[in-house]
Amino acid sequence: MPLVNSKEMFEKAYNGGYAIGAFNCNNMEIVQAITEAAKECNSPVILQVSAGARKYAKPVYLKKMVEAAVEDTNLPIVLHLDHGADFEICKDCIDGGFTSVMIDCSSKPFEENIAITKKVCEYAHAHVPYVTVEAELGTLAGIEDEVKVEHGAESYTRPEDVEEFVRRTGCDSLAIAIGTSHGAYKFKPEQCTRDPETGILLPPPLRFDILEEVSKRLPGFPIVLHGSSSVNQEFVKIINDNGGALKDAVGVPEAQLRQAARLAVCKINIDSDLRLAMTAGIREHMRAHPDHFDPRQYVGDGRAYVKQLVKHKIVDVLGSNDKI
Ligand code: G3H
Ligand code: 13P
Ligand code: ZN
Repeated sequence: MPLVNSKEMFEKAYNGGYAIGAFNCNNMEIVQAITEAAKECNSPVILQVSAGARKYAKPVYLKKMVEAAVEDTNLPIVLHLDHGADFEICKDCIDGGFTSVMIDCSSKPFEENIAITKKVCEYAHAHVPYVTVEAELGTLAGIEDEVKVEHGAESYTRPEDVEEFVRRTGCDSLAIAIGTSHGAYKFKPEQCTRDPETGILLPPPLRFDILEEVSKRLPGFPIVLHGSSSVNQEFVKIINDNGGALKDAVGVPEAQLRQAARLAVCKINIDSDLRLAMTAGIREHMRAHPDHFDPRQYVGDGRAYVKQLVKHKIVDVLGSNDKI
């Protein structure tokens, strides 16, 4: 099966009350962990690549690794550009065989966001085969591609803007800001309450009222959530027990993501959780075996934790298992 775009995947997800996991890929072990997990769960999956990943691994390596995963698993896989900053990077990915791109002009004024997004859609949709385009309205807090949006400077999506934006741009899906945030420190401690028994921070709830208003205005239209790592505390603990120092790392509770997946959210972006799982495996291995120096041993343990995490996300959070 060749790489696919996200159109049919999202239609099925919308109607089935589940979401597709969009996992960021930076190296071979991450690609393998995600796609092996998806294979074992019989789940469609999106592999996404940021500008930072392209810089780190080179586009050609990432593309060939994803093609190898398609050949190895025979799964429906979307190769997606994450946070494309301008028309040129989107064009480069479309020309290079990506089946989906995100144009992220969410930090630009509304009219400029529309103009650039429309240009990307025209180019992507004229491509044979059709390339799907994700756009964004509203801004998330946190770090993405070296841009840091301070807590308090983020802005929720305004539901009254979405119909005009989608109609005028022709985008295929829309990322919205409802309180998720990029990175492993999504909320400041003062935004949270602290569980008195465990000491773990409990974040403020997502704005489901905005999601519901957006989906009322865009019936049947796929919505995307960025910044959706949950910062699973079991991996934070392994990291900290093995020499790490992650203090007050906090994510979006998985139950809220499961709820969003039952509604109009068809794509949920997860990157930080993969990084934590990989780091936990490597740190644990290094601490247990200070005499080891073969990367296949410690990176292999990192890969095993990433795979375990992705299976958990597919089954317990996204609900995309057994959907092929
Ligand atoms: O949204 C940002 C993603 O987590 C990608 O992060 O730019 O460090 O690759 P990166
Ligand atoms: P996290 O940092 O929550 O994993 O978000 C990833 C993301 O949105 C990638 O676009
Ligand atoms: Zn993102």
